[in-house]
Amino acid sequence: MELKNNNGLSEIENVVAIDGPAGAGKSTVARLVAKELDFQYLDTGAMYRAVTWWAIHSDINIDNPQVVAEHTKRIDLKLTPTEEGMRVEVAGKDITHEIRTPEITRVIYKLDENPSVREHLVYLQRLFALEYPTVAEGRDMGTVVFPKAKCKFYLDARQEVRAHRRQKELEQRNIFIPLDKLLEEIIERDRRNMEREHSPLRKADDAIFIDTSFLSIEEVCKQIIDIARERLKK
Ligand code: DC
Repeated sequence: MELKNNNGLSEIENVVAIDGPAGAGKSTVARLVAKELDFQYLDTGAMYRAVTWWAIHSDINIDNPQVVAEHTKRIDLKLTPTEEGMRVEVAGKDITHEIRTPEITRVIYKLDENPSVREHLVYLQRLFALEYPTVAEGRDMGTVVFPKAKCKFYLDARQEVRAHRRQKELEQRNIFIPLDKLLEEIIERDRRNMEREHSPLRKADDAIFIDTSFLSIEEVCKQIIDIARERLKK
């Protein structure tokens, strides 16, 4: 493959691309599928969370899109696959857990809706996949970042089910938020992710749709692994 520029990087095929809204089960499934296939797991939501964390903790105005874009280009971001997921470090500081707070989730749209921020992170995501066979999860993996991926999946679940999952996940970290509040946030985040101008969340035409509402994690993983093995000849 000849790589002249970032456009050339969009030709990468050896990727399992998993998209879908928050709480559809993407992270757990992508991590397990990567392990099973001996691929690397790339959590792109964590990258948007990391740049948001960094912007908040720097002395910049996060409401100024140009400032945020310039700042993002200078981020020293390190992603390391681990048993539990992906370790995220910014400027040498491990922020894997700090980026999962409701505070970050509330303001992340200021960065993930910024086209220059997206452009930079897409570039980093493609470099990652160029280096390793990758299972990448996010919102625009199949539509924008890896349009030529041989395996694309779109995971979804009922909003009530996703709110419930989010509640359980937060409880494990001693964060207690009422279900109706989480449901409200999920509805709002879906709306924002789907209606935004740049890289809106949508299923790629050639992605396989899986409703995970009433499936176990094992069942979802099996469907994906079977198809991935066939298409990637693993
Ligand atoms: O998957 P997550 O909840 O950690 O994602 C955090 C935010 O990042 C979410 O609001 C949507 C955004 N995101 C995105 O815009 N594009 C991606 N590829 C991944 C996440």
